[in-house]
Amino acid sequence: MVIFLSFTAEQVLAQQKQIKIPEDISKLLQQYACLACHKADARVVGPAYVDVAKKKYTNAQIVELIYKPKPSNWPGYPPMFPMKNVPEKDALKIAAWINSLANKRS
Ligand code: HEC
Repeated sequence: MVIFLSFTAEQVLAQQKQIKIPEDISKLLQQYACLACHKADARVVGPAYVDVAKKKYTNAQIVELIYKPKPSNWPGYPPMFPMKNVPEKDALKIAAWINSLANKRS
């Protein structure tokens, strides 16, 4: 266990990078190419999933946003295109996992 006496942005980022994506979820995120634009813990093209979790959506709302993104929820980001090819049961699994990240970062 490492204790940082002073935090630089890099150290904070390094700590956030420790979120492990469970294998079944990781498979889905790869299959539907979500990882091309999203990371669990950092902004890429789209917002970090930890930041999505902070919005406190229900799982069903996240599924709805995967099918019908609302770019106005994320000013400063390009619009995500609708991902209607994701079956609802997979979308729900992803949604539940995103919400499980809500407690991962204080
Ligand atoms: C081409 C890039 C791209 C891909 C591929 C992509 N996203 Fe996104 N996503 C974005 C961007 C950009 C935003 C923020 C702007 C927006 O919501 O339109 C976003 C926003 C989101 C949000 C937040 C919605 C909100 O309104 O708060 C969720 C949840 C999400 N994406 C999930 C997914 C999932 C799950 C997949 C895979 C099935 C996926 N995204 C694939 C770019 C992408």
